[in-house]
Amino acid sequence: MFYSTISILVGIAAFVDASCMHATSKLQRRVTPEGGVEVSTFGYTDLIGPLNWAALDAENSACTTGTVQSPINIDETIPITSEAPIINFPSVESAEFENLGSTVEVIVNGTTQFAGVDFELKQFHFHTPSEHRIHEEYYPLEMHMVHEAADGSGAVAVLAIVFDLSTDGSTTDLLTRVTEHLDEIATPGTVTETAALDFEELAHHLTTTPLFQYTGSLTTPPCAEGITFLLTEEPLPIDVATYNALKSVIKFNSRFTQNKLGNGNLLLLENNLQLGIETNAIHPSLAEAHEDPVMDAALALMSAIAAVH
Ligand SMILES: *[C@@H]1O[C@H](CO)[C@@H](O)[C@H](O)[C@H]1NC(C)=O
Ligand SMILES: [Zn+2]
Repeated sequence: MFYSTISILVGIAAFVDASCMHATSKLQRRVTPEGGVEVSTFGYTDLIGPLNWAALDAENSACTTGTVQSPINIDETIPITSEAPIINFPSVESAEFENLGSTVEVIVNGTTQFAGVDFELKQFHFHTPSEHRIHEEYYPLEMHMVHEAADGSGAVAVLAIVFDLSTDGSTTDLLTRVTEHLDEIATPGTVTETAALDFEELAHHLTTTPLFQYTGSLTTPPCAEGITFLLTEEPLPIDVATYNALKSVIKFNSRFTQNKLGNGNLLLLENNLQLGIETNAIHPSLAEAHEDPVMDAALALMSAIAAVH
């Protein structure tokens, strides 16, 4: 009894370690008085990495407890959309291009209509390597085009495009244009402008090739759920020079593959193991965890410890 109490406390201590950091993370970028952009307080390494995002801010609890988290491995259970989105991304002479530390992001307007809902494009950004895997395979680069519902409901849809390295030097012109001024934002917190951008090739790919569809989460804090993902099955090409240029600035920003949709959060399941709970005592959700007397007591203690921090 004494031993198991100690092991629970050790597990809880590990769980709440870093809760004093009081870091904040926001969905929206924030421009600083100096005209730069605020650098993300989360990252991909050590204690600000994805294993510990929930401890960085109370708003991030879904990162540890959410059960439909992204990214995922796309397997045979994930369907292809039956209808193509209707896309209108106007070309621009230039667009704001920011280094957030956690990614590089381009601020653009546009619209996507899908399943009868009008979405407004807010920004697109990159992950390297890809966050999603398609039948286990990862890709060197994934682009996320983040949309919000035009009706103000707060619904979010992400058009996700994977890129693969070409062997014949072919590439996607949009990426070449985006990266033309990349060296001007090599430092996190800096801002510049892209060259002229034309989305025709990308929109054509998104409307004429198969798209996987599922409902998941933001892949960054606060890991909010209910996000519609439309992900290309077929990659677009990227040449080695463009890829290496992006990688040298972005470094690494891919959240680990989450559990199958609805099968329990891997971090919560792992925490159960840390707490000395039977390895076969799987808790698919926080609600069910509360039904287990040992987990419920542990969660109550965790809340109490979090409250005094
Ligand atoms: C996007 O559209 C809004 C509303 O028309 C406008 O205020 C904003 O400046 C536009 N942003 C960009 C990046 O073009
Ligand atoms: Zn993203």
